[in-house]
Amino acid sequence: MTTYEGFAELETKGWSDDTISSGYVSMFSEASDMAIPAIVSSIEGTQKILDLCCGQGNVTEALVKAGHSVTGADFSSKMLSYARERVPDGDFVEADAQDLPFENASFDSVVCSFGLMHVPDQTKALSEIRRVLKPRGQFIMTSWRGPDMSPVFQVFYSSVQEHGHPSVKMPDSPNFHQFADEEMAQSILNDAGFDVKKQEQVDCFWMLHSPEVLAEIFQNGAPRGGYLLSQQPEANNAAIKAVVAQKVRERFGDGDKWRAPIPACLIVACAR
Ligand SMILES: C[S@@+](CC[C@H](N)C(=O)[O-])C[C@H]1O[C@@H](n2cnc3c(N)ncnc32)[C@H](O)[C@@H]1O
Repeated sequence: MTTYEGFAELETKGWSDDTISSGYVSMFSEASDMAIPAIVSSIEGTQKILDLCCGQGNVTEALVKAGHSVTGADFSSKMLSYARERVPDGDFVEADAQDLPFENASFDSVVCSFGLMHVPDQTKALSEIRRVLKPRGQFIMTSWRGPDMSPVFQVFYSSVQEHGHPSVKMPDSPNFHQFADEEMAQSILNDAGFDVKKQEQVDCFWMLHSPEVLAEIFQNGAPRGGYLLSQQPEANNAAIKAVVAQKVRERFGDGDKWRAPIPACLIVACAR
């Protein structure tokens, strides 16, 4: 079995990098934040919740405001520093999703908002999630739709394919969009001991003030996008950015702004 070492290194470096972490918080998460109401409304009553891959604490903050008792966990001290600033009284723990420092059956629900696709050993992470959940506990996660359904990923991947240098390749990794494919997600979660209760689309988007911003969000706000763009020779980087901007102009125009749709998939599953 591959350990996806190159991918693990890319993710670890990315989330501890000043530019990527601050770019995610200031640019990328405008879209991620749009999934928060769907996550919060999937949780009934008042619960003890683990917000796994909590990043800057956006979901933790909303869950605390809804009255839950929440622990946020993330492996990046940089992302946790944003979370601690955002939720000063919050309970945050530096931890890897593949090796959680919590007792068995500690939480009523585990939430993982746009986190699991960044984890190299997802089987291990899911087994950790199931272990720390109480019997019949809920697992709620979100994931970005792939290019078959996502206009933003169509634009980004096709532009990299058309103008990227052939020597620039992403390290091997689990399929980034597999949890946004209903059947694939059901099969992985079933194998991990979960029954899927709900899968629904959440319509996230960016309202861009200029067509050039989309490539900037990927280069400076996401480890994989940052890698794919920053490893390019200058001419290829410039060509990709120009064609992304051109496609944004053609497809996403909305008055004096550009509405770039990046749909997500919300999954609610129950531990068997
Ligand atoms: C895309 S951000 C999501 C942040 C936040 N949950 C949101 O919805 O905006 C992914 C987060 O997962 C964290 N992460 C990635 N791999 C991880 C791992 N193996 N263990 C714990 N956290 C991880 C990153 O540090 C980052 O904060």
